[in-house]
Amino acid sequence: MLNIVVVGAQWGDEGKGKVVDLLAQKVGYVVRFQGGNNAGHTLVVGGVKTVLHLIPSGILQANCVNIIGNGVVIDPAVLVREMDALVAAGVTVNPYRLVISTEAHVILPWHKALDLARESAAGEGKIGTTGRGIGPAYEDKVGRRGLRIADLLDRSTLGRHIAMVLPDVNRRLVADFHAAPLDGKACFAELDTLVERLRPHARSTIRLLHDAMRRGDGILFEGAQGTFLDVDHGTYPFVTSSNTVAGGACAGSGVGPTCIDEVIGIAKAYCTRVGSGPFPTELSDAPGERLRAVGHEFGATTGRPRRCGWFDAAMVQTAAMLNGMTGLVLTKLDVLSGMETLRICVGYEGLLDVPTGAVALSAVTPIYEDLPGWSESLTGVSTFEGLPENARRYVERIEALVGVPVVVIGTGAGRDEVIVRGRPFL
Ligand code: GDP
Ligand code: IMO
Ligand code: MG
Repeated sequence: MLNIVVVGAQWGDEGKGKVVDLLAQKVGYVVRFQGGNNAGHTLVVGGVKTVLHLIPSGILQANCVNIIGNGVVIDPAVLVREMDALVAAGVTVNPYRLVISTEAHVILPWHKALDLARESAAGEGKIGTTGRGIGPAYEDKVGRRGLRIADLLDRSTLGRHIAMVLPDVNRRLVADFHAAPLDGKACFAELDTLVERLRPHARSTIRLLHDAMRRGDGILFEGAQGTFLDVDHGTYPFVTSSNTVAGGACAGSGVGPTCIDEVIGIAKAYCTRVGSGPFPTELSDAPGERLRAVGHEFGATTGRPRRCGWFDAAMVQTAAMLNGMTGLVLTKLDVLSGMETLRICVGYEGLLDVPTGAVALSAVTPIYEDLPGWSESLTGVSTFEGLPENARRYVERIEALVGVPVVVIGTGAGRDEVIVRGRPFL
């Protein structure tokens, strides 16, 4: 059985949840390895929509063990709410099916307060974060003053931690941001009510994963966000605070690079972005509005309208390189039906490479190639040959530009609305 990494190849919301759910039929384990509840992964099964923020997208596959790995930052209240919602929907969520790494870090109430306060103080320069406390939680992790799940489970450590860090946090909230200070007792009480719900699920997950790999059970590493939100390789500083690229799967779950067999990148057949930062192929006119309306491009986490634009092959080719992609999944091809002409960005004027960093990327001029569109609906098309000729040409052009085989094409939101073309999906 293969060990497969699934990552976003653009700016997030490419359809990772749907693809992980689909592939989870073939593996024993799904592991989230970075990010937190800034993610919103949508699964549509039998017409029923489930949005997951922290729980891995293998949870709807009955035989799959789901692990929240050490690289994730966990908001305990959000996790408990998500567990309850799944149970209410009839999904089995027990300590065998959902395992939480004791080494994962906790998003604490002040991380959210600091995230929101900083964003509102930043005005025009804001990053447009999800406001979930992701950045401040990772800052504390790297600053060696974070709280891990193991510490949360120990009441005295939790109490000491709050007593130690809260005075300084409150000074910053009040003096720097004119925000309200937090009450230590209330923070403790809020977290304390959640601890017993998490305890049965919490354990060191390293041995679990390595035993599974030895048995050949197959592990799927589920990325969150996308390559160009990576803290090193993205459009810095308009990025998230973790390594979203495939390399992050190893550190965020405790396996070595030699364990990974395949890296699947997910890209939409066009491009979207939520939050601030450069977006060379962004459309601010009618075609952009159309993509937003037909593609229902509103954030699964914050409900914000997503910025929409043409497919940027220069960026996805760079993502293929950064991730060591072995296959590309192209989602939402159905959304393009009815557009007369489709544009693909094949590079930037005067540049060989996609510039790193926000300033340089804001200054580029995309070079477009125009392709004829198609009018037919793609609903129900299940083979590549069944696609309109211009749709096949569009996919084949992307494949050639990116240099990676398109192994799955999405034709709708449902689990089964796919055209499967290659490994590891076949
Ligand atoms: P993720 O964060 O990468 O998991 O993606 P999101 O769930 O945030 O956003 C992807 C959206 O597109 C969701 O609403 C999915 O249900 C939907 N989706 C995924 N694949 C397809 C597809 O092939 N066609 C259509 N029309 N919708 C899709
Ligand atoms: P999924 O996993 C799209 C964006 C935010 C903001 C930037 C930093 O569903 O693809 P953060 O809260 O992480 O500090 O925000 O990153 N962002 C996402 N955009 N999809 C996501 O996750 C995102 N997670 C964060 O909008 O621009
Ligand atoms: Mg999403």
